[in-house]
Amino acid sequence: MAEAVVVEAPAKVNLYLGVGPRRGDGYHDLTTVFQTVELSDRVTIEPAESLEFECDVDLGIADSENLAVRAALAFAAVCGRHPAVRVSLRKQIPAGAGLAGGSSDAAAVIAGLAEMWEMDTSDAHLRTTAAALGSDVPFFLSGGTSLYTGRGDEFAARVPFVPLDIVLVYVGVPVATQEAYSAFDSFPHTPTPGPEALVAACASGDPARVAATLYNNMTDASVGLVAGIAETLAWCQREKGVLGAAMAGSGSAVFAVCASAESAEEVAVHASRRGWWSCATKAIERGVTLGLEEAS
Ligand code: C5P
Repeated sequence: MAEAVVVEAPAKVNLYLGVGPRRGDGYHDLTTVFQTVELSDRVTIEPAESLEFECDVDLGIADSENLAVRAALAFAAVCGRHPAVRVSLRKQIPAGAGLAGGSSDAAAVIAGLAEMWEMDTSDAHLRTTAAALGSDVPFFLSGGTSLYTGRGDEFAARVPFVPLDIVLVYVGVPVATQEAYSAFDSFPHTPTPGPEALVAACASGDPARVAATLYNNMTDASVGLVAGIAETLAWCQREKGVLGAAMAGSGSAVFAVCASAESAEEVAVHASRRGWWSCATKAIERGVTLGLEEAS
């Protein structure tokens, strides 16, 4: 009986996102505080004759473009092995929402293959492969609450974890990351306040203080692409039990920090009644997480 590796791939939000001007290589320097949340995709990796891929939802892209497939090919090449595995995705994280489900799936494939092949791989080795796949892929190898810089791929510091009750609300219209950054470029660049207030709020352990210092300077640019972001943000901020809200990454999902798990559930029910995708979740202290399962 072949052994399958099952990996939980969590979504993320950005408690702080301050994007700077475009660099010479086309990317933007940024400072961000990432936070993983409980909502997760499930990635299963099993031995196979050659690379096979299966996903339970149609993501509207060729398999070869899927970050999970690209991660398997890239990591196999780095390890000097054939990617003789079947990668199966069970998606829970909506695509095009700024929740980085694709990036988390890619990190899960790297971590899963490293486990399956018993690779004696240094953390740096995994992170280099991860960063080549996407700016926020390295973060998912460790997850939790962390400050990242560079194009979003350079770990700067751990930030104290606050057990936040969070609701995610997604209007259902995706934003392509590249388009969001192009829209951002057409806005005059103004200096960001820096992550210090948010980091201090996390150190205080007070969810209300964290909620009051959420920051994302891509919001106006993404609202220009999907007006529903402004609507869901304003709506969340008016809901009972919401302490503060912000856009997730480059959008178009938004997230609200709530006073309790019960209020997060209530807001999720109200949002669903309005026809929006919604999910009550909570901040977690882990990134992609391995578990072993016997394949039938
Ligand atoms: O790194 P990733 O592949 O996720 O980035 C997708 C696109 O988002 C890039 O091609 C680039 O246009 C934009 N981006 C950026 N600056 C960053 C991260 C992403 O301009 N720091």
